[in-house]
Amino acid sequence: MKSSERNNSSAIGLDVGTSRIVLARQADQGFQYQSQLNAFVSIPYARMTETVLQKENVPHVVDGDQIVVDGNESITFADLMRIETRRPMDKGFLNPQESDNLNRLSNTIEILCGKSKDKQLVYFSVPAAPLGEEESLTYHETTIKQILERLGYKAKSITEGLAVVYAELEDSNYTGIGISCGGGLCNVCLSYLSVPVFSFSIPKAGDFIDSSSASVTGDRATHIRLIKEESFHFNGHFSEKVHQALTVYYDDMIRALVDALKDQFSKGRGLPKLTRPIPVVLSGGSVLPGGFRDRFENVLKESNLPIAISEIRLAQDPLFSTAKGALMAAMIDN
Ligand SMILES: Nc1ncnc2c1ncn2[C@@H]1O[C@H](COP(=O)(O)OP(=O)(O)O)[C@@H](O)[C@H]1O
Ligand SMILES: [Mg+2]
Repeated sequence: MKSSERNNSSAIGLDVGTSRIVLARQADQGFQYQSQLNAFVSIPYARMTETVLQKENVPHVVDGDQIVVDGNESITFADLMRIETRRPMDKGFLNPQESDNLNRLSNTIEILCGKSKDKQLVYFSVPAAPLGEEESLTYHETTIKQILERLGYKAKSITEGLAVVYAELEDSNYTGIGISCGGGLCNVCLSYLSVPVFSFSIPKAGDFIDSSSASVTGDRATHIRLIKEESFHFNGHFSEKVHQALTVYYDDMIRALVDALKDQFSKGRGLPKLTRPIPVVLSGGSVLPGGFRDRFENVLKESNLPIAISEIRLAQDPLFSTAKGALMAAMIDN
């Protein structure tokens, strides 16, 4: 089921994340968000399967000799057929292992946003390139732009960390550090009066925590992810092995993030003279467990960063910050 074509020239923001795609648009009061899983399942076509899906009301497409279900419904389909979902993206970028990733991503975006009749402006998020992998960003960014243009949009990109700054740091006049910890990557941007000073990403985030924990407990990563999202928090007394493993790899991620941040400051050239302490804002699905902020603050304090931090806070809606920031960029540019 695709959204009907919208004849609406107001701008939109799109967070194209490894695990979810989030759409932000203006509403009567504030902003409105919708999301789709960035996942799909496909199985060889069989008339019987198609009939089952119709009966269960699972929207699907027949693509050559395959039946495919994209987005949120892919979980239902996977459960029904006892198979795993697949991902068009991996570690922040289009997944080179998935030959059909462009069609799948395009269809999921269309389910979420519909087509645009009048070249509606969309800002979409892109990760900062991991060091030494700048070409993968060019391919990723250009391809998503083309997907959106084929759906009728005028598309421009914004780096994820900067989008978080736009969404959350109006109070400090867009000066501070925006961080998004998602599934594939953690993205960071230091912004000075809305101008990005540096942006970077590290390929350690939620998926890394899931797969590393799975490898020491012997569980499946999807099972670990479920436990993590339902019951994990910091500073518990963990008799349970899974929680212990999650604590270890969460810590690993936080340390890698803070080390990388420190590294950027130590390179130091071109940094503005900051006369006031600056805020840090944390967003993305991986900051949700209770105690994350405190743990991050402790590690950051230990690291002796060469700048003063005024506060470390969680974003208002950690799952929607990037999309909201992309929308702000689009509204200003429209
Ligand atoms: N309540 C939660 N507790 C812990 N982790 C969560 C929770 N909700 C989502 N996550 C994790 O957040 C990650 C996805 O975050 P998101 O910001 O949506 O990612 P992306 O930008 O990669 O699409 C996944 O690793 C997921 O397991
Ligand atoms: Mg994200």
